[in-house]
Amino acid sequence: MTPSATSIIVQSTVLELAAGYKELVGEPRIVGLNAHPKFSRLLGKAKRKDLSPNLGTELRDVQLKDLTNDQVEDLAAFVSIRGVVVFRDQQLSVEDHLAFAQRLGDLQETNHPCSKGLHPALLPIAADKDSKFAPGEAWHSDMCEEPYPPGYSILYMEKVPASGGDTLYANMYAAYDKLSPPMKKFLEGKTAVTRRGTRKYRGNLEQGRNTACSHPVIRTHPVTGWQMLFTNEPCAVHLDGHSPLESEHILRMLAQHIEKSPEFQIRLHWEAHSVAIWDNRAVQHQAIWDYWPAERKGRRVAVIGGKPYYDPNGKSQAEEWGENEAPRFLRHAEE
Ligand code: SIN
Repeated sequence: MTPSATSIIVQSTVLELAAGYKELVGEPRIVGLNAHPKFSRLLGKAKRKDLSPNLGTELRDVQLKDLTNDQVEDLAAFVSIRGVVVFRDQQLSVEDHLAFAQRLGDLQETNHPCSKGLHPALLPIAADKDSKFAPGEAWHSDMCEEPYPPGYSILYMEKVPASGGDTLYANMYAAYDKLSPPMKKFLEGKTAVTRRGTRKYRGNLEQGRNTACSHPVIRTHPVTGWQMLFTNEPCAVHLDGHSPLESEHILRMLAQHIEKSPEFQIRLHWEAHSVAIWDNRAVQHQAIWDYWPAERKGRRVAVIGGKPYYDPNGKSQAEEWGENEAPRFLRHAEE
């Protein structure tokens, strides 16, 4: 579903790069464009349970490290459609985790102090009785201030509290669909500046690198071709071309639109040795720190997801599902 150069009307621009930033050579790999129409190579023998009709799926009886290349193609497109997919009972060492992530795209370095001494793409995600905050406690998509923000995040959970520690996910295709037609029109083609750690975020995002980008507010997904809302409150600085007051209110309204829409959210319950893979373009997430003083411990690897763009020829998820059960790009593959 890669758009022709002429159909893109807005593409992200880089405003500021951190010292030592390594420019990408060429466009990043996009996995999932050769998926089977019904993902049958992945889903064949798996036990599937959808977590809601429009978002989230649990798959059992699949070991991620044993997938074939064809199954990985299916997996990428399936995650892009379902937003987040959780796999239970995974045996995934750090080396397996990094090697598996690499099959979904080019590894994204975290540039985070917590990764010091580790592989640069490996981010520990942990909180215990001594923590001042838990990572990811506000609605966000990972590293949205990057020129090429992550396509997929792969979080392996090693230790879970006896109860609590769930993660909320929200569907950004549905967030776009639920906007009123005049609001969609107003936002299409607009861009917003994102910078790490500018807003209230009970994490230590400000310790990351100082990168700023201007990203399309309505973004088109490179695999599904669907439109999505792409604003991230913790990192959003302002809406290009608007006054500070207008900007603040529009961005807050969009954040509230996500927060107040449980019908396009799910709550993922973790088990030890679960792996969740989510599409950072298509969902936002929020970690819930309700388990203090217990411990929750995992590790995350993310892969680069292409330069964000808005293509006016993209469809919405609702339009697509409305016409036929299979998305258009998959129906084409089937013909
Ligand atoms: C994150 O990637 O923001 C962490 C999510 C979680 O801990 O559930």
